[in-house]
Amino acid sequence: MAKKRLHIKTYGCQMNVYDSARMADVLAPLGYEATDVPDDADLVILNTCHIREKAAEKVYSEVGRLRLLKEEKARTGGRMLVAVGGCVAQAQGEEMMRRAPTIDLVFGPQAYQDLPDLLGRATRELMETGRSHVVAVDLAVDEKFDRLPEMAAAQGYSAFLTIQEGCDKFCSFCVVPYTRGAEYSRPVPDIIAEARRMVDQGTVEITLLGQNVNAWHGDDGTGAAAGLGELMRRLAEIDGLERIRYTTSHPRDVDADLIAAHRDVPKIMPFLHLPVQSGSDRILKAMNRRHNAARYHEIIASLRDARPDLALSSDFIVGYPGETDADFEATMDLVRQVGFASAYSFKYSPRPGTPAADLDEQVPEDVKSLRLAALQEELLRQQEAFNTATVGQILPVLLERDGRHPGQLVGRSPFMQAVSVDAGSAAGHLKGTIRNVEIAAVLSNSLRGRLVEPVNLVAAQ
Ligand code: SAH
Ligand code: SF4
Ligand code: F3S
Repeated sequence: MAKKRLHIKTYGCQMNVYDSARMADVLAPLGYEATDVPDDADLVILNTCHIREKAAEKVYSEVGRLRLLKEEKARTGGRMLVAVGGCVAQAQGEEMMRRAPTIDLVFGPQAYQDLPDLLGRATRELMETGRSHVVAVDLAVDEKFDRLPEMAAAQGYSAFLTIQEGCDKFCSFCVVPYTRGAEYSRPVPDIIAEARRMVDQGTVEITLLGQNVNAWHGDDGTGAAAGLGELMRRLAEIDGLERIRYTTSHPRDVDADLIAAHRDVPKIMPFLHLPVQSGSDRILKAMNRRHNAARYHEIIASLRDARPDLALSSDFIVGYPGETDADFEATMDLVRQVGFASAYSFKYSPRPGTPAADLDEQVPEDVKSLRLAALQEELLRQQEAFNTATVGQILPVLLERDGRHPGQLVGRSPFMQAVSVDAGSAAGHLKGTIRNVEIAAVLSNSLRGRLVEPVNLVAAQ
C-alpha cells in the first residue's frame, strides 16, 4: 500500500490530545504515517478547540497558512486534503467551509471513527467536482468507542486514556455540552483492557480523561454501581502501572468513595485539578455550577484529610457577566484560603449559543484585564511558594524524556512539577523509570533536581 503522510495539529484540552492519537490509529490501516510538519503532507487534520474565542480564531489563521501549502502541492501534481475536526468543527459545521473553502472535510469529536469513509467521500467529490463538502457532526458518543480500533501505537511513559465524554452540566458560559454531546461513560472492561495494552507497550502513568471525569460511572463487574474511586482501585491492580491521575473533575461529583480512594490507593498521585471558576456564591449560582464556595472548601478539607500532601490546581474565570469588585474579591479570598500549587485563569469569553453570552452586564475588557492580572499575580506567588517548599525534598520523578542538554532527563514529580536531572551516560537506561530526586532549585518553568542514587551505580544494575 502506498505510504501517505498525515499531519495532525492539536488544540485545546487533553481530550483532544487523546482523540488525535486515536485518529492516527484509525488512519494507519490506510497507509497514513504521522509527520511533524504540514509541508508536503497528504492529509492535514486540525483538531480544534472552541472553548474561548481566541482558541477558535486560531484555526482560521492556520487554515490560511495551509492554503499556500495546498496550492504549492497542487502545482507539483499532488493533493493535500485539509480536514478540520474537534469542537470548532462541531460548533460551526458547514459554515467553516463557506468561510474557508480550503477546508475539504469537517468532522466532530464523535465522528472520527468514520474518517476512512469520510476521506473516501471527500476524495471522490474532489475528483468529480473539484470541491468537497463533506461534513460529519453527529453527536452520538456511544458508537465511537465500540468502533475504534485497538490502540496501535505506544502512547509514551505517561499517557491519556479517555474514560468519559461529554457533559450534562450546562454551565452557562461553556460550549462543551454542545460540542461534545451528552455525558457518556465507557464500560469497565474496555477501560481495563485499554489500560493493560498501554502498560504492555511501556506506559507507566495513566491520566484518566473526561470533560467531567468524576461523573464517570459503571458497574463493578458484579452488577453493582461503581464510581471513579472504584475504577481506580481496579486499575491500580495492573502490574507495571505505577501512577494514576484523572482530569478534569467537577466539585459536584466528588463523592466519599473518591475521597477514600485518595487515602487508600498510593498509585493515585497527590495532585488534583478541581476547577472552582469563582469564589462568589452569587456568580457560582449564575454560572449554574451547582456548588458554592463553602462546599468547595469542605471538599478540599476532606481530600486533604485523606491525603495530607495533596496539591491542588484549579480553573478560574474572571469578568463573568455581572461580576462586581466584591465578587472578584471573594474569588481572591478563596484563592488565599485554599492555596494552589498551580492554576489556569481566563477572562470570560462570550461563546455563541451559551446562555451567558446573551446577558446584559457584560464586564468591560479593561476591568477583566485588571482582575486577571491581580488573580494571576496571586496564583503565581502561590505556585512559587509551593515549588520553593519542595526544595531539599526527595521526590519520586517519572523520567519521561530527554532534556535540552546531553544526558539530561525531564519528568514529573507526583505534584505535576516538571523536574530536570542530569543522568549522564545512564540517561538511556533511566528513561521511563521512576527515580528518587532531590529537588535542588526552582527555575522559571521547572525544577532542577539531583538523582539520589549515584548514577553510575544505577547504570550498573
Ligand atoms: N469540565 C471542566 C472544564 C472544561 S473547560 C469543568 O467543569 O471545570 C476548561 C476551562 O475553560 C474551564 O474550567 C473554564 O475555566 C474555562 N472556560 C470555559 N468556558 C469559558 C469561557 N466562555 N470563557 C472563559 N473561560 C472559559
Ligand atoms: Fe463546561 Fe461546566 Fe461541563 Fe465543565 S462542567 S465542561 S465547565 S459545562
Ligand atoms: Fe476545547 Fe473541546 Fe476540549 S472546546 S477544551 S477541545 S472539549
